[in-house]
Amino acid sequence: MSKFDQIKARDKKYFMNTYAPYDVAFERGEGCYLYDTEGNKYLDFLGGIAVNALGYNHPVFVDALTEQAKKVSIISNYFYNENRGLMAEQLVKDTHLSKVFFGNSGAEANECAIKLARKYFKVKGENRFKIVTALKSFHGRTLATVTATGQEKYNKAYAPLPEGIGIYIPYNDEEALKNALEDNEVAAIMLEPIQGESGIIEGTESYIKLADKLTKEKGVLLILDEVQTGAGRTGKFWAFEHYGVTPDIVTCAKGIGGGVPVAACMATENVANAFVPGDHGTTFGSQPLVTGVGYAVCKKIREDGFLDEVAFKGNYLKDGLKKIVDTRILEVRGKGLMVGVEMESPEVAKDIYNRMFKKGFILNVAGGKVLRFVPPLIITTEQIDSMLVALQETFQEM
Ligand SMILES: Cc1ncc(COP(=O)(O)O)c(C=O)c1O
Repeated sequence: MSKFDQIKARDKKYFMNTYAPYDVAFERGEGCYLYDTEGNKYLDFLGGIAVNALGYNHPVFVDALTEQAKKVSIISNYFYNENRGLMAEQLVKDTHLSKVFFGNSGAEANECAIKLARKYFKVKGENRFKIVTALKSFHGRTLATVTATGQEKYNKAYAPLPEGIGIYIPYNDEEALKNALEDNEVAAIMLEPIQGESGIIEGTESYIKLADKLTKEKGVLLILDEVQTGAGRTGKFWAFEHYGVTPDIVTCAKGIGGGVPVAACMATENVANAFVPGDHGTTFGSQPLVTGVGYAVCKKIREDGFLDEVAFKGNYLKDGLKKIVDTRILEVRGKGLMVGVEMESPEVAKDIYNRMFKKGFILNVAGGKVLRFVPPLIITTEQIDSMLVALQETFQEM
C-alpha cells in the first residue's frame, strides 16, 4: 500500500463524509509550490482557497509562528495580549473602521456581524432584526451564516432555519435592493464585494455604491463580507476601497492569517459600541499565536509596493487568460488575484481542472463552471506564464 493509499484509507474510516477530495495528499509547500506524498510538485493557484497570502514556508509567517509559539500561544481573553491590538490596528489602518472582534473562521466573523447588527438596534430601541443577503452568496456554515447564504443547497437540510435571516435579493439588482430596504424591520444588508464561491461574480460599482448610499439614508447597516476578497486579494487591502464606500461592518478571515485560523469582524466606532463585556466571545479568538502571525502577515501585505504588485500580477493573469481564444470560454473576470474564467459547462470546467492537475497545476472550479484563480499573492509573472502555457495546451488537447 502506498503512503497515499494508507492516508486515504484512514481518512475514509475516521473523517466525517463531508468532502469529496481529489486523490492526492500534500506533505509540504515552498513558495507557490506544493509537494505530494509521491514526490510530485504542483504550482498552486488555489492557495488553500485564498488563504496562503504569502505562499508556503514564507519567512515572515514561519518566524512569527515559531517565535510566538516559543513565548505563549493561548492565555484566554481574561487578560490583555499585545498581539491582539497590533493585529487589529493593522486591519483598520487607513480606513473609517475603528474596532475589531476576532474569531476563528469566516463564518464566525459573519455570525459576529449579524449579532452586532441586531444588538446595535436593540440598544437604539428599534425593532430592526432582519438580515438581507444576496442570492448566490456564500457566508459560511454555522446555522445563522448558512441561512444568510443565498443558496438552498447549503441550508435546506437544516430547517427550521433562524428567523429573520434568509431574506434574499438578486445580486447586482438595484430595484430589488431599493425594495428590500423599504421594510423597516431590516437591520442590515450583507453582501460580498465579489461573490467568490459562486464563481467570481463582481458587484458592479453602481450597485455597491447604491447599497452604501441607501443603507445610510435608511439608517440600515451595510455589512460587507470580505472573507475572500480581503487582505490584499483584489489589489487593495480591502475590496471596499475600490468603490469608495464606508460599510458599517466588514468581515474577513482567510488571507489575514496567511495560514493560521484567524478571522475578524470590524466595525465603525458607533456600531462597535453596541457590544459590552459578555455580549460575545470565543476561547481561541484573538489569542497571541494567531494574532501574532496575522499581525506579521498583514504588515507584510501593507508594505510599500506589495499591493501594487498584486494589482499588476492580477491584470497580467487576466490579460493572459483573455488571450486564450476558445469558444468554450464565456468570460474572464475578477479583480487583482481573484480571477474567474467562466466555461460553457461544468463538464468542460471539470475536464480542464483534471487535465491541469495532471500537468502539475492546482486550479479550482467555483459556482459549477468557473475556473477560479486565487493564488498566493507572491506568485510571479513567470509562474503565471507557465500556467498560461499549460492551459493553452490543455485547450488544444481537448
Ligand atoms: C465570502 C465568504 N464568506 C464566508 C466564508 C466562510 O468562511 P469559513 O469557511 O472560514 O467559515 C467564505 C468561505 O469560503 C467566503 O468565501
